[in-house]
Amino acid sequence: DKGGWSSFMAKEINEQPESVENTVRGRISGGGVVIPELAELGDERLRSIDRIIIIACGTASYAGQVAAYAIEQWARIPVEVQLSHEFRYRDPVLSDRTMVISVSQSGETMDTLMAVKYAIERGVTTVSVCNTQSATIPRESDAAVYTHAGPEVAVASTKAFTAQITALYLVGLHLGRVRGTISAEESAQAVAQFEELPAKLREAVDTHEQVAQLAHWMADTRSVLFLGRHVGFPIALEGALKLKEIAYIHAEGFAAGELKHGPIALIDHGQPVFVLVPSPRTAPLMHSKVVSNIQEIRARGARVIAIVEKGDTAVLPYADDVIRLPLADALFEPLLQVIPLQWFALELSTVKGLDVDQPRNLAKSVTVE
Ligand code: F6R
Repeated sequence: DKGGWSSFMAKEINEQPESVENTVRGRISGGGVVIPELAELGDERLRSIDRIIIIACGTASYAGQVAAYAIEQWARIPVEVQLSHEFRYRDPVLSDRTMVISVSQSGETMDTLMAVKYAIERGVTTVSVCNTQSATIPRESDAAVYTHAGPEVAVASTKAFTAQITALYLVGLHLGRVRGTISAEESAQAVAQFEELPAKLREAVDTHEQVAQLAHWMADTRSVLFLGRHVGFPIALEGALKLKEIAYIHAEGFAAGELKHGPIALIDHGQPVFVLVPSPRTAPLMHSKVVSNIQEIRARGARVIAIVEKGDTAVLPYADDVIRLPLADALFEPLLQVIPLQWFALELSTVKGLDVDQPRNLAKSVTVE
C-alpha cells in the first residue's frame, strides 16, 4: 500500500523521520548509547577489537563509508569499508581482534553473505546491520543490530540508507562508551543530535517541492555530477547511484578535493553539479574549501546546485540554486543532505516517464554472486 503516494519510493523517502526514530528507539540509556545485542558480546571482547572492516554493496556500502568517519572518531578504531564481492579476493588481513560489520537492507545479498561466511571461517567477530528480521546474514552473525526502518519495497534504497547510517553511528557510540574513547559530553551531544533528528529530517523531506521544480527544468539533462568532502563524499556517490538506477542517466560523485586532479576537465558550459556544502559553523575549514571548489567549477560554466545549511550565505554569489537544510553537527549532515538527492532522482525519473519503483535490469535483493 503506497499510502496515497505516487510510488513506494516517495512513501519511503517521506517515512525517514519516523524510520530513523525507530532505529534509535530503545538504544539510548542514561545519556549514552547501549545496544543490547552488542552488550551480549561482552565488553571484554569489544575492548579487544583493533580493526573494523565494514562490508556491503551499493547504497549499503555508502552508509558504511559515511559511518567510518564517525566510528573512528568515537571509538578510535581504524575502520575501512570494503565491497563484499572484493573482500575475499584480496586475502584480507584478519585476526580474532578484527570486527567485520556487514550492512545489508535485505540480509540476503549473496555477495555480502559469502563475505560474512568467509569472515566467520577466519574467526573474526561478525556484526550484522540489517533491516529484515531473521534474514540469513543476521542469523549467521555473532550479533544482529536491526535497523527497524520497516519494509522497503522500492528497488532504490532510501529509508534503509538513513537507518543504516543511524545504526552504525549507534554502534560507534556503544563501542566508544565501552572502550572509554568518547567523553560523556561528546556522547550526550550525539544523543541530543539523534533526538533533534526527526524534526530536521521532516524539514529535509519538505525540500520536495523545490527539488521537483529543479528536476522539471533539468528533464533533458544527460549527465549530473555530485561533489562532497568528508562525510559528504559518500553522499555524493549515493546521489549519483540513485540517478543511474532510476533515471538512467550518467552521474558521478567525486570527493571535492579530487576535482583538480582530473574531473574538473569534465566541466563545461551548463554541466549540472550538486555540491554538498559542509556547515560553516561546525566545519569551517572544510566549508571554505568547498566554497572555493564551487568558485572553480562556476568559473568553468557549471550550473551549481548547492545544498547548504540554513543561513550559509557564502555560496549565494556562485550558486544557481540553493537548497537549504536545518543546522546539524557535521557528522549528522549526511542524513539530511541525502534526502533532496533522493527526491531529485525520483522526480527526474518521473519526468522521464520511467517506473520509479521497478527500474529496468534491477532486483530488490541480489541473491546471486
Ligand atoms: C541502491 C540499492 C543497492 C543495494 C545493494 C545492497 O538503491 O538498492 O545498491 O543497496 O544491492 O543491498 P542490501 O542492502 O539488501 O544488501
